[in-house]
Amino acid sequence: MKHDIFSLKGKVAIVTGGNQGIGKVVAGYIADAGADVIIFDKNDATAVAEEIAEEYGVRTGAIICNVTDPEDVKKAIGEAAEKMGTLDLLFNNAGICLHKDALDCTPKDWLKVIGVNLNGIFFVAQAFGRYLVSNGKSGNIVNTASMSATIVNIPQGQASYNSSKAGVAHLTKSLAVEWAEKGIRVNSISPGYIMTEMTGTVRKDWRDFWVSTIPFKRMGKPEELAGAVIYLLSDASTYTSGCDMLIDGCFTAV
Ligand SMILES: NC(=O)c1ccc[n+]([C@@H]2O[C@H](COP(=O)([O-])OP(=O)(O)OC[C@H]3O[C@@H](n4cnc5c(N)ncnc54)[C@H](O)[C@@H]3O)[C@@H](O)[C@H]2O)c1
Repeated sequence: MKHDIFSLKGKVAIVTGGNQGIGKVVAGYIADAGADVIIFDKNDATAVAEEIAEEYGVRTGAIICNVTDPEDVKKAIGEAAEKMGTLDLLFNNAGICLHKDALDCTPKDWLKVIGVNLNGIFFVAQAFGRYLVSNGKSGNIVNTASMSATIVNIPQGQASYNSSKAGVAHLTKSLAVEWAEKGIRVNSISPGYIMTEMTGTVRKDWRDFWVSTIPFKRMGKPEELAGAVIYLLSDASTYTSGCDMLIDGCFTAV
């Protein structure tokens, strides 16, 4: 390529929820695009970080961090900056799902899902934004929303998840506008049904129903999200902020 516009060389990227699933796979692709990678996860992602370093020859690290706790997040950002030397990019991706009808959802259930999926996304974005601004740096964030931000999945009840993801989509736009003049871009991806540890244990009759309603007639793979994340994190998208990219095998087109 004459213009290496998708390259992430010389950048350091944080990936939250990178111990498994979408975060783990996309972290590898971010490293393949040239960035050093530091994983934040509630579980120890040292083994994943080591695998990525070995495979792609970049520097990596892993920090145990619960994204629902703003103090823990602040500490993790400080540790990451110290360990990696600098921070440039954030793939803000940690999330959980709860399949429970709204009538049965307890306050604890509701707060747990909103705590990880919406509060967690905000706490990490805010701490990262504060780091960039206080260090006079520009930077770039990709949040993981979901097609559930705009559609209601069936047959399972998941109002807490859907509401949390609608929040992430609008938080993305709000931060994009607030931080536009600070040189911080904020975009989101909205995956459709993707085969990961999160979806792999769901009732088979539900998964069969999902597949029957997806025009592509299959679930997506985590690697099918990597190109969008790299595009949004890279200099190929310097005029793009507040954008949500749907990657859903046409699910929301019908
Ligand atoms: N799999 C799908 O079909 C799908 C579709 C749309 C959106 N998403 C979103 O993509 C993201 C990743 O999903 P996935 O399918 O890879 O899920 P996953 O369960 O396989 O992985 C989620 C990761 O997040 C980590 N995590 C969970 N809670 C955390 C916390 N409090 N603090 C730090 N880390 C935490 C987990 O340890 C895990 O490593 C989520 O935000 C999810 O909502 C997934």
